Amino acid sequence: MSNHEHGVSIRLENCRKTFADGTLALQPLDLTINAGETLVLLGPSGCGKTTTLRMIAGLEFPDEGGRILFGDEDVTRQPIEKRKVGMVFQSYALFPNMTVAENVGYGLKVQKVNVADIKRRVAEMLEMMELGALAHRRISQLSGGQRQRVALARAIITSPRVLLLDEPLTALDALLRERLRADINSLLRKLGITAIYVTHDQDEAMALGDRIVVMEQGRVSQIGSPREIYFTPKNDFVADFIGQINVFEGQIRDRRMQLPGGSLPDVALADGFGRIHCRPEDIVLTEAGSGQLTGVVQQTQFIGDRTRVWVAGAGQQPVLVDGDGRTHFTQGQPVGLQIKPDQMILLDQQGVRAA
Ligand SMILES: Nc1ncnc2c1ncn2[C@@H]1O[C@H](COP(=O)(O)OP(=O)(O)OP(=O)(O)O)[C@@H](O)[C@H]1O
Ligand SMILES: [Mg+2]
Repeated sequence: MSNHEHGVSIRLENCRKTFADGTLALQPLDLTINAGETLVLLGPSGCGKTTTLRMIAGLEFPDEGGRILFGDEDVTRQPIEKRKVGMVFQSYALFPNMTVAENVGYGLKVQKVNVADIKRRVAEMLEMMELGALAHRRISQLSGGQRQRVALARAIITSPRVLLLDEPLTALDALLRERLRADINSLLRKLGITAIYVTHDQDEAMALGDRIVVMEQGRVSQIGSPREIYFTPKNDFVADFIGQINVFEGQIRDRRMQLPGGSLPDVALADGFGRIHCRPEDIVLTEAGSGQLTGVVQQTQFIGDRTRVWVAGAGQQPVLVDGDGRTHFTQGQPVGLQIKPDQMILLDQQGVRAA
């Protein structure tokens, strides 16, 4: 497997995409993917994730003036078969009439690798993907998770320079998705392959991405590590899209925001209208009357490691708080809310994060 060790870096320069019917799917895009990195493209339906992936694969070409580089090599006009990319899609696109081993070996056969080598490399690959016992099964005799592993094995056996994955786990149930996500994660790290992974599942994005690109309507909204995206979203789109978040809106005077259930101090925003986002886990429930805000428990949901509590009357909308799983709250109970200033995400009037 040593030939996988260093993936190639990828650069997209000024890559705009207009489809034949005039649809502008991507605004001019500049993006660098480091060698060996797993970059996740995350965003709502129609924001341009698949289009970006297909341009990297060579299935679509950017508008005039766009360039795509693999390392130092300009591949902009190269067709897919020259680019040496491996692809895995949501629909496995396996050959139903071939066995597992024949599916996995297919790419090597196309490359005219000799039969003995194919046999050896397929056996190694099946071993690695824990598919050895299924080598002679037909695809129709496999579970969804097994099919997905075959699709992965088939994509990486030819030592692609880049692995492109477009929502590969969406068809699977939650438990299996989580397990395969962990498998993919360790596989990508072991192979050191450059990978671009498309999803609209934020948990998947956080778990897999070295960096995440959050896309909105054909443009990049933010690029950063999972932590940066989660804790310091650049704007209200990213803040709302990633994780659960509470929004407080109100007038600010002397760094204090007035709200229905009290006021928040030490808000580093100018006087006037302002907006604060705050994660459910960054709000502490206190005795009624002792917090910055006061409200009434509207609804609770016990999740085991924590209790989700919705508090009415503190902000404009019910405030979601993640409380300790062992503390019991009852509906109608008055509570206080406490937020630390450094755990507030402050947005200006345009919805852009204040420095
Ligand atoms: N062949 C095409 N011709 C015209 N418009 C297209 C074509 N393919 C995609 N589009 C449009 O380009 C935009 C981006 O599509 P894309 O498939 O990249 O979205 P996506 O982010 O992958 O969405 P999803 O999460 O639903 O898969 C959409 O508005 C889509 O309708
Ligand atoms: Mg898509």
